[in-house]
Formats: sequence, structure tokens, C-alpha cells
Amino acid sequence: MSETEKQKPQEEQVEEKSSATWPDIEEELVIPDVLQSEGVKKLHMSIQSEWDYLQKSACQTAAGRALWKHVIHDPLAHLFAGETHLRNLHIKIQNDRVNNAREVSGVILAVRTLWFDTRIQAALDSFHGDAAQVVLLGAGMDARSYRLNCLNKSEVFEVDFSDVLQVKASLVEAAVKSREELKMTAKSLVRVAIDIRDNEWFDKLKKSGFLPEVNTVWVLEGILYYLSHTEAMQVLKLIAEKCAVTSTVLLADFMNKPSATLPNSVFDFYSDWPEQLLPSLGFSNVKLSQIGDPDANFGLLHNPLNLFNKLLQLPRTAQIHPDDGTPCCRLYLVEASGSPP
Ligand SMILES: C[S@@+](CC[C@H](N)C(=O)[O-])C[C@H]1O[C@@H](n2cnc3c(N)ncnc32)[C@H](O)[C@@H]1O
Repeated sequence: MSETEKQKPQEEQVEEKSSATWPDIEEELVIPDVLQSEGVKKLHMSIQSEWDYLQKSACQTAAGRALWKHVIHDPLAHLFAGETHLRNLHIKIQNDRVNNAREVSGVILAVRTLWFDTRIQAALDSFHGDAAQVVLLGAGMDARSYRLNCLNKSEVFEVDFSDVLQVKASLVEAAVKSREELKMTAKSLVRVAIDIRDNEWFDKLKKSGFLPEVNTVWVLEGILYYLSHTEAMQVLKLIAEKCAVTSTVLLADFMNKPSATLPNSVFDFYSDWPEQLLPSLGFSNVKLSQIGDPDANFGLLHNPLNLFNKLLQLPRTAQIHPDDGTPCCRLYLVEASGSPP
């Protein structure tokens, strides 16, 4: 470090560091040709006019993966997101750039995606080559069946509302027509139209070919907090019961109370202590990470003064940030597992 750098206040040095490591997100948004075709435009118009906020959240997360493409290779993300969601997020990122923000819009999503990718691969490895099923509950516009090679021996089940899955299938068809190189990386893929608030949802999954006795990875990414407490607990209990039948891994993100209870929040279920909740339901091993932890930053959170790194310094019991009185909003990335004795 030079003499002049040594004399600078820490904040100033950090600001410089943050601009020097600004993520490589394109300044001009490029809209791919496939989004310009009449058929695809119509599908996205129907999403904009007919879907509610819950269904549209599927396209918002796809937009995150599309714009963080320097770290996530998702061949379908732009197509799944649609122009409106891409533009909305791109504007936010440009504003962050102008304001030299410490956290760039979409970074949580990028970290979350990479964390789930890594943990899915590790869970499948833990089955030592035995057959496995991967169930994506609230799959939305998840394209893992087309982008993760580790799924090549797995049966994948994508569960979501019927409208979402129908449009998704049509978008994939459009992609196949326009690009020959799109290949499924999963061994097989079944889309199952289910509302997981429905008591019968697990029976419907079985009718679609899910086998309760086969090793299973349950992926609940960006879904639990849209459910009520009772609904979320029912889903978690049902998955926990499967630990007694076969090797079961649950990967899920949980909001803490301050995150789910912000004014005008659309979220409901939260847990401040998932590592206590999940064993009480029947999972034996639970590991919790927070955005910014060594296994949940992927080199994307350089600035030590950003929100996530600051939260990591505070005890998890803190609900309000002592520096500025803002709520301590945390997202927990949780892996839990269990198997028959
Ligand atoms: C935020 S998106 C996450 C999508 C995907 N997991 C991802 O990370 O990209 C939430 C998804 O959950 C779906 N969803 C919400 N409530 C649901 C329910 N009760 N049954 C089935 N799907 C649901 C929504 O339609 C939406 O696609």
C-alpha cells in the first residue's frame, strides 16, 4: 500500500475498491433476437397482462440470472425473463453504478443461484452414483435442467402453477426452434402443475412419476416465504417425513422476520432459526449459511461495508441495525438432510 493510500480514511479506500471491482454487467442491454419473434412477444404480453405478482416473480429471478451472465451461464434466462423484466432490472443496476452502490441489484439472486447450484451438485455426489430425483418446488423459470451437467443421471420434476409451466414449455419450444444447440442436461424432466398449498400435492407428484423410495433432492428456492406459516410448515413436514423412507436432502432459502415483515411486504412465512426448526421436524443434519459467508459469496461481495458483510458482524438476535436503525433483513441458505436408520 502506498503512503497516500495509508493516509486515506477506511471508507474512502473501500469506495475506491468497490468501483474497481464493479461487476461485469453490460452497460447497453442487448435484447436477443428470440425475444423479438411474434410468438414469444405474445407469450410475454400474456405474462404481463394476466399473471399476478407471484407468477411474475419467476420472470424477475430469470432476469437476475440473465444480467449476471458473467457468473451464471443460463442459456434460457433472457428468453424466460422477457424484455420488461430485463429492462427493469437493468435500469436498477445502472442506477447502482451511477451511485457507486455497495450492493448491486441482483447480487442476492446471483449468490443464491450459485449456492443452490453448488449444493445440488454436492447432494447428488453424496448419493455415490445411485439413482436420484430432484424436485424443484416453485420451479418458475429455473433452467437447471438445461444448464447443470450434474443432473445427467437425475429425474427432474418441476412443480409450479399450470399457467407458469405452460408458458415455460412454449418458451422452451421457441428456443429449440431458434437455436439448435439447446440441449437438456437432466436425464429426464417432468413438469407437474400443482399448487403446493393443496393438501393433495404430494399424491399428484407421485402420479407424475415421483418415486418416494428413490434418493431425492428437494429444491425450495425463492418459494417458502410466499406461503403462510401453516402452508410452509406442512410442506417442510412432508419432506422431513421422507427422511425415514430414503436419503433426502432439502435445500431452501428462509427469510428472517425483519425481511418478511417490511411495510407492504408480500411475504408471509419466515424463520429466524431454521437450524432449530428443521431438526424438530425430523431432519438430522442442518447447515445454515448467510449471504456473504465464505460458501455464499462467490467473490461477488467485495465491499466489506456492504449490507451483507455488515450483517455478518452482528449477532443474529439483532432485529435493528445499531448504526442506522434499519431492519436486519437476512436471507438464510439452508441445507438439511436425513436418511432411514
Ligand atoms: C420467486 S419465484 C422462484 C422461481 C425459481 N425457484 C427460481 O429461483 O428462479 C417463485 C415461484 O414459486 C411459484 N409458486 C408460488 N407459490 C406456489 C404454490 N403455492 N404452488 C406452486 N408454485 C408456487 C411461483 O409461481 C413462482 O414461479
